[in-house]
Amino acid sequence: MSSDISRALGKIACPCGLVGVKHGDKHDLTTVAWFTQESSNPPQVMVALHPKRYVLELLDATGEFVLTILADDQEHIATFCGSRTGRNVDKIKELGIVTEPAAVVATPRVKDALANLECKVAGRYPCGDHIIVAGQVVAAGVGSDKKPLLYFEHKIAHWNL
Ligand SMILES: Cc1cc2nc3c(=O)[nH]c(=O)nc-3n(C[C@H](O)[C@H](O)[C@H](O)COP(=O)(O)O)c2cc1C
Repeated sequence: MSSDISRALGKIACPCGLVGVKHGDKHDLTTVAWFTQESSNPPQVMVALHPKRYVLELLDATGEFVLTILADDQEHIATFCGSRTGRNVDKIKELGIVTEPAAVVATPRVKDALANLECKVAGRYPCGDHIIVAGQVVAAGVGSDKKPLLYFEHKIAHWNL
């Protein structure tokens, strides 16, 4: 990719979140920045996941996931869950992430986040070097009124850029 294209793409300010999936006794949380709402009726979101992500393996097995929107003070979670793979480490245990049961899906919500969106997979579209996963939001909860954690210029960023 040319440096012009890379620098321009870096100007897309994204939120920072987590995709979580629990499958039996396995539970993984992966940091994502490439996600957004893509439908209002029904309410749906989409997230781009690289085919090598362990969380995608669990998501494909269960057909559901929780999309957590991280707050400005949760950078340590985004950094850890975005640099380790759940194949080798139990991220929830290692970081002491506090979860609570979801309303509809089997994957727990992450406590103290801005919001948790419980999703059932509505579509899976290989596109470029990522897989776009669409999820219908079947339940959700708002956790706090803090500012969102951001991803800007290819790194984690804060609201007052
Ligand atoms: C700030 C940040 C944003 C990220 N955004 C994405 C993303 O949108 N899609 C993706 O597939 N990986 C993304 N990653 C990389 C994964 O989070 C990372 O490879 C993770 O270790 C994969 O974990 P897993 O193998 O347990 O799924 C991001 C990482 C960071 C630090």
